[in-house]
Amino acid sequence: MRHLLDIRDLSTAEIDELMDRAEDIIDNPKKYSECMHGKKLATLFFEPSTRTRLSFEAAMLELGGSVLGFSEPNSSSAAKGESVGDTVRTVGCYADIIAMRHPREGAPMAASFVSPIPIINAGDGGHNHPTQTLTDLLTIRREKGRLNQLVIGCCGDLKFGRTVHSLIHAMMRYKSIRFVFISPKELRVPDYVLETLQKAGVSYVEVEKLDDVIGTLDVLYMTRVQRERFFNEEEYLRLKDSYILDVDKMKLARKDLAVLHPLPRVNEISVKVDDDPRACYFRQVAYGKYMREALLMKLLEVEA
Ligand code: NCD
Repeated sequence: MRHLLDIRDLSTAEIDELMDRAEDIIDNPKKYSECMHGKKLATLFFEPSTRTRLSFEAAMLELGGSVLGFSEPNSSSAAKGESVGDTVRTVGCYADIIAMRHPREGAPMAASFVSPIPIINAGDGGHNHPTQTLTDLLTIRREKGRLNQLVIGCCGDLKFGRTVHSLIHAMMRYKSIRFVFISPKELRVPDYVLETLQKAGVSYVEVEKLDDVIGTLDVLYMTRVQRERFFNEEEYLRLKDSYILDVDKMKLARKDLAVLHPLPRVNEISVKVDDDPRACYFRQVAYGKYMREALLMKLLEVEA
């Protein structure tokens, strides 16, 4: 039985296969529409979500399976003090696979030790978010035509932004990747993530101003300042509008830049940028559902 807790649980070849499968689903949806018949996905969301939970559910439904679950901890026995371990043991009696989001780093991993069915980490605190990364990789491959030889800018809250941590761990495995990290000092990429880059000899720079570097980027990955992870509201208010990507900034960027954002957006991208063909974030949402379809098939060992 395999879980997906960290994007590094998948080899690069497996990720490439998942992308190929997702593209085949995009081209031939009928071929896959009954393959999950009789299978159930449980979505256990102890933290808010729109895209991740609904795209998992839509993915399972499109494959002919069914879904159950909860979208906030107060409607589950977590509110009565039940442990995550007991919750997954219980849900393991009802479903075939679990997608779990939790505010505590490592909670899906702890769940995997006792779970009778595969666990997918759908975001654990400020740590990891591997299925968003699968979405991001397919987006980059489709928008740029490659995953090698890219200058990737990550901008915003690189400390608490779990999607960035997983994206770094995935993209660093492709050839000739350079990272440009754009954040205030307080929201830098954590040292434990930077160390993996240093050990692998992958090149990166850390800067504070987006204007200085935007013209050098192939991909710009914008992120929201993660209010729910701050200890101090004042600090959040001071940092929340550190970066706003607007039409003027887009004029400094390359004609073939791809702008990604895991969403939800707050202020960090002006809505006026949405009509720019370089804005990929709503196409990125669509790709997420297909990658989750491919992933569910892989972990449940289901074929079309
Ligand atoms: C992200 C998350 O939950 O980490 N959203 C998502 O899953 N698409 C990013 C965020 O909340 O800022």
